[in-house]
Amino acid sequence: PFTDRVFSGIKPSGDLHLGNYLGAIRRFVPLQNDFECIYCVVDMHAITVWQDPADLKRWTYEIAAAYIAAGVDPTAHIIFNQSQVAEHAELAWIFNCVARMGWMSRMTQFKDKAGKNSENVSLGLFAYPSLMAADILLYKATHVPVGDDQKQHLELSRDIAAKFNHDFAPSIAANGFEEAYFPLPEPVITGPATRVMSLRDGTKKMSKSESGSDMATIYLMDDAETIARKIKKAKSDADALPSEEKGLENRPEAANLVGIYAALSDKSVAEVLAEYGGQGFGAFKPALADLAVSVLATQADEMRRLVADPAQIETILRSGADRAREIAAKTMLEVRDIVGF
Ligand code: ADP
Ligand code: NA
Repeated sequence: PFTDRVFSGIKPSGDLHLGNYLGAIRRFVPLQNDFECIYCVVDMHAITVWQDPADLKRWTYEIAAAYIAAGVDPTAHIIFNQSQVAEHAELAWIFNCVARMGWMSRMTQFKDKAGKNSENVSLGLFAYPSLMAADILLYKATHVPVGDDQKQHLELSRDIAAKFNHDFAPSIAANGFEEAYFPLPEPVITGPATRVMSLRDGTKKMSKSESGSDMATIYLMDDAETIARKIKKAKSDADALPSEEKGLENRPEAANLVGIYAALSDKSVAEVLAEYGGQGFGAFKPALADLAVSVLATQADEMRRLVADPAQIETILRSGADRAREIAAKTMLEVRDIVGF
């Protein structure tokens, strides 16, 4: 009974990096052929930790530009920023009352981000997954392309949808809706590089908030020379690449670099190993650097061209928000009836 619809978003909380590109942005593009797609800049999620207002705006435009530069069509599909559609906050509140404290307490990302200082992080950081559930379910989205790190949050979105459907079942029926009012959204986490790791430590995720050496992270706006230098200095090992995928087990840095190559060239890891198996990193790294530079240069040039005209991005975001609000408002009219408001 649900229309196939995609929703995904990125937080404007730092410079975009290769993990965001391969785990999310690049995957957004082909989905446009089969789904109605809604790609959001989730600025309300960004402020769960302190954001300088000027940076927040700049990064918001940069993410919108990144979507368009990668090939998302903002006329056939929707690009907007979350804060412009107030229904996200409204549904999130209802979901705060559906979700259980215990569910939230089990989120590993919260535990990682709060660390030992959980008394002094924002309440919003704790409640973040219920806002994420609202983002998705406001549009009754059925598919959510994300990186592997978002898997647990997406499971929580499904739990919230299921509990809402269950708790309000009589009211859902009384108001004349299908038994399952909300779909249980499915994660789309496929192919190589769904978890891009730090270039300096194959056990740590590449992240906007990655602290320590900057050599760990490739930023989308890095220039060609910087990208090549970071790849050349990336941690690897002295062994040749295996010719089969299982040879990458227990070699996290090698697996990461091969995965990045595969994702950037739209090949499988097996195909890359068929080509480079037997060769060492002395040969593989320059090939990877060339590939990364050529793919990312096109993306970065187009992003630079777009952010140079903020008025045009603002127009695109406003038009997207108008179209998103139409869908969101309809859902909230229904949800209000179901809840008894
Ligand atoms: P970040 O973790 O960089 O702050 P967000 O939380 O805004 O990024 O996530 C935006 C998208 O990018 C999500 O779909 C997330 O899963 C994906 N993503 C973030 N880091 C990585 C990574 N290292 N590898 C693959 N995907 C990632
Ligand atoms: Na993340």
